[in-house]
Amino acid sequence: MRFTDTLPTPSAEALAHSEQLARRIRTAITANAGSIPFRDFMQMALYEPGLGYYVAGSHKIGKEGDFITAPEISPLFSQCLANQCAQVLTTLGGGDILELGAGSGLMAADILAHLENIGCLPTHYWILDLSPELRERQHQTLQKHVPHLLERVAWLDRLPDTPIRGAIVGNEVLDAMPVDVFTLVNNERVIRHVATADDNFAWVNVDGFYTSEFNPALPAWLQSMADSLAAGALLLIDYGYEENDYYRPERSSGTLICHYQHRVHDNPLIYVGLQDITASVDFTAVANAGLDAGLMLAGYTTQAAFLANSGLEALFIAALQARPENQYKLAQQVRTLSLPSEMGERFKVIALCKGFTSELQGFTLGDQRHRL
Ligand SMILES: C[S@@+](CC[C@H](N)C(=O)[O-])C[C@H]1O[C@@H](n2cnc3c(N)ncnc32)[C@H](O)[C@@H]1O
Repeated sequence: MRFTDTLPTPSAEALAHSEQLARRIRTAITANAGSIPFRDFMQMALYEPGLGYYVAGSHKIGKEGDFITAPEISPLFSQCLANQCAQVLTTLGGGDILELGAGSGLMAADILAHLENIGCLPTHYWILDLSPELRERQHQTLQKHVPHLLERVAWLDRLPDTPIRGAIVGNEVLDAMPVDVFTLVNNERVIRHVATADDNFAWVNVDGFYTSEFNPALPAWLQSMADSLAAGALLLIDYGYEENDYYRPERSSGTLICHYQHRVHDNPLIYVGLQDITASVDFTAVANAGLDAGLMLAGYTTQAAFLANSGLEALFIAALQARPENQYKLAQQVRTLSLPSEMGERFKVIALCKGFTSELQGFTLGDQRHRL
């Protein structure tokens, strides 16, 4: 992934789509006296019905899309997560898995295939995604990889009415939630707004030297997670930092970035509906919101440590023995998932539990809860 100031030009069709969404955002801006909080802009850019980045038709995740995620890099990632889910399900004497924001559906397929191999299938595998286009793709992926397990999979339109016993998992879901951007003025947070400027969008100016962001929806979202869990673990994987690191003085422009065709840049006000907009996760805020919602903080560590604790080495050896010709490819996948310079330390895993007090195996070594 390259940080860039030059981007490929979208097709005429893509630009027309973007213009349609831009018109709708301009209407919202006009209706709100000339500007909207960035949070609302991001909500519309990503999730405006029929037009937003995640709800309209483009490919998004994977080689032909805009960015790649851990489950797309290697099945070993999902198998490790499956091992952690297996421990939860076994301890509870069975149960369900709910996956949030399931992307292409590959993680669901690989988790189910691995749980079948180790004799620990969940009764149901629920998927909750905000994107109708991705739901269709998820169905196709599961149909291709694990057709015989499709009967256990069901898509939800909202969180389950009856709280589940088992595991709720989400990879890179938190970073796709709209954030408020703020600039410090006399040590007070001034929430940043977006206005129109000719045919484009522009930030409403605020004078200050420190800009960052936060996710205002976290408390309500974690409360809804806690309400959806009767017993078990919520496992969230994402890139981000603890509060001290997130808001350190040198990080004075925040963490907001955009992905377009495997390029990374920092202007969320262009290519509306065509590019991903994302902010790093403040894991301290996630932990605090979870605790306030009645969950127990059961673990926090780097992706590298979580994968190592969850059996990565044994899974790697098994994959190698099954397909020795894949040695280079598999080693490369492990490096990408685990090396500190790749995803290993930038990505973290947090576990929040309810009615579940056993130590989670994914956090036995290298637990960093004390840093939150
Ligand atoms: C960056 S993608 C990650 C997809 C996938 N988990 C992966 O790792 O490839 C973010 C996904 O989260 C979904 N999403 C965002 N907010 C959500 C929410 N509140 N509930 C469920 N899904 C959500 C989006 O629709 C999108 O599918």
